[in-house]
Amino acid sequence: MDVGTVLLWIGAALLALPGACGDCGEPPRFVFAEPPIPTNASYPVWTVLRYRCRPGYTGDVSKSPRVTCLPNSTWASHPDFCIGKSCGHPEIPNGDFHFSTNLQFGATINFTCKAGYRVVGKASAQCVLRGSDVDWDHVPFCQ
Ligand SMILES: *[C@@H]1O[C@H](CO)[C@@H](O)[C@H](O)[C@H]1NC(C)=O
Ligand SMILES: *[C@@H]1O[C@H](CO)[C@@H](O)[C@H](O)[C@H]1NC(C)=O
Ligand SMILES: *[C@@H]1O[C@H](CO)[C@@H](O)[C@H](O)[C@H]1NC(C)=O
Repeated sequence: MDVGTVLLWIGAALLALPGACGDCGEPPRFVFAEPPIPTNASYPVWTVLRYRCRPGYTGDVSKSPRVTCLPNSTWASHPDFCIGKSCGHPEIPNGDFHFSTNLQFGATINFTCKAGYRVVGKASAQCVLRGSDVDWDHVPFCQ
């Protein structure tokens, strides 16, 4: 084998080792945030991408929205650095609402009325995107 062939072999071996070329691939995808676009197919080690929360989500102030390419070719970030915006407590006179997890974007709540009243309209609602903010898709009333 000549020197060129040997170098080719070494090159191929390095490429076969994940992370050996010290680059990261496509930036990770999250439902709650998006990378700066256009994205590239590969990024040098220590590239820092500042993500933007997607509509309906807001930055968690205790976490950085930066995603970093590490020397082992993996992207590192804080988990859930954007969180769903809250629709807040809905107003339902003579009634109440019930939720299982939270009142954030995507959440579903149920409504009930005080004794002697009945729900007029759908008895459940979802926290949805409205413009750039979030709101309950509808709120029934108690009659
Ligand atoms: C993507 O690649 C282009 C061309 O190599 C470069 O100019 C640009 O800065 C890169 N973008 C990012 C976010 O690294
Ligand atoms: C890459 O390196 C980071 C930081 O050293 C480590 O936490 C992570 O587990 C590593 N990932 C892989 C796939 O080796
Ligand atoms: C809301 O109502 C649905 C359908 O009746 C039920 O499956 C769900 O468990 C209820 N959730 C809460 C938080 O009450």
